[in-house]
Amino acid sequence: MIVFIAITAALAGFLFGFDEGIIAGALDLIEQQYAPTAFEVGFMAAAVPLGALFGALSVGNITQHFGRKKVMIAAGVIFILGSLAAAWTPVFMVLIIARLSLGFAIGMTGVVSPMYISESAPARKRGALVSAFQLAITIGILSAYMVNLNFYQSENWRLMFASGAIPSLFFLFGVMRLPESPRWLVLKGRVDEAKQVLQKIRKKKDLVLLSIEDEVAAIQDNLQQETKKKASFKDLFDNKVKAAVFVAMTLFILQQLSGINIIIYFAPKIFSLTGYSDATTRIMATIGLGAVNVGMTIVALKYIDKIGRRKLLMMGFTGCAITLIGITMTSQMTTGLWPMVSATLIMLYIASFAISLGPVPILMMAEIFPLRLRGPGMCLASMCNWGFNTIVVYSFPVMLEKMGLSQTLGLYAIFCVYGLYYTIRHVPETKGITLEEIELHLHKDEPLSNLGR
Ligand code: BGC
Repeated sequence: MIVFIAITAALAGFLFGFDEGIIAGALDLIEQQYAPTAFEVGFMAAAVPLGALFGALSVGNITQHFGRKKVMIAAGVIFILGSLAAAWTPVFMVLIIARLSLGFAIGMTGVVSPMYISESAPARKRGALVSAFQLAITIGILSAYMVNLNFYQSENWRLMFASGAIPSLFFLFGVMRLPESPRWLVLKGRVDEAKQVLQKIRKKKDLVLLSIEDEVAAIQDNLQQETKKKASFKDLFDNKVKAAVFVAMTLFILQQLSGINIIIYFAPKIFSLTGYSDATTRIMATIGLGAVNVGMTIVALKYIDKIGRRKLLMMGFTGCAITLIGITMTSQMTTGLWPMVSATLIMLYIASFAISLGPVPILMMAEIFPLRLRGPGMCLASMCNWGFNTIVVYSFPVMLEKMGLSQTLGLYAIFCVYGLYYTIRHVPETKGITLEEIELHLHKDEPLSNLGR
């Protein structure tokens, strides 16, 4: 059963990555067919993160009322219909609406899937599942790039979008077989059902550490504490936790302002601007980039607990800044060996991102909030992620038209330099520190940045 739980988690991340990546290959062909303006292109590409912003915002109350499973099933249905609607697109506006609804489902699952997992998985698996989510995003992006290659020759952008329905179907059937979250069942007073579910999803190994009766009692106790002092968004700005909230929000904002999604969403276009005139070569290079993203994420997951979050972030911001500055200089030279140099710099940029800025914000967001505020805190941090993702993706086609590639990338390099400064000054180190110790530190009068240094 734990395998199924892991698969839902992974599939939600996979679908997030897939819908981000698929636009890279489809864009050229859609532009040829509909000749949209730069504003329309930006809006169509950014419809996914924008929809996700609304999905994440609206899902809190719905899932308290209907449960985690029903919400994931609804998202699964939207994923399937959204992919098919994007493929069907009779007019450009339909494509925008389809991508908005795909984004909405991504936003819903982005909140509910991790919630379901943390409520169902035994404690010893929780950390691994958080990191698996980021890895699944990168595998989703890579798979989308491979689908792009498959259909690019036949110029069939519709089948690129339609392919998204297949993993969505797996997701839907997967969640239909899952039991409801035991914690939600207790919340609704369905204690016997919760015990039956726990009996089904716990292994002997887990039961030695914590019996079903004790686990249910702990959940009840916890819920009682929560209802006594219900957490709200306002509490996030309480003096003690404010610093944690700012670090989580800023890390996501800086993750997006590193310009990552300019590359993820528009890679073939960027390869074309840096001198690659052949479309298939561009898609192949994009696949290479997707593979570097997956590979370096695996490396990051291996070393995140050894090297630590801060050092990785410092390396990542430095790498991203240097490579972006490099590309601003080489991208103007589109003949001879220069396109190769630009492509290598783009790969190094992705590697720098994947080893640090990709996984660290997600992991720290799950570690840094006190338990009581973890829900609203994670929700707010995710909003920053989606909000800035939307701004960066939406503005890129327009910036490209008005400022050109070099200056646009130069601007994002400045944000990376600031990210390095911010990490050195403000980011704490949570490597090897328990969640309880982090929470204790928040209640001290010391600055959060002293933690773990
Ligand atoms: C970011 C996405 C990005 C992806 C790239 C994630 O951590 O939130 O916006 O596209 O990494 O791998």
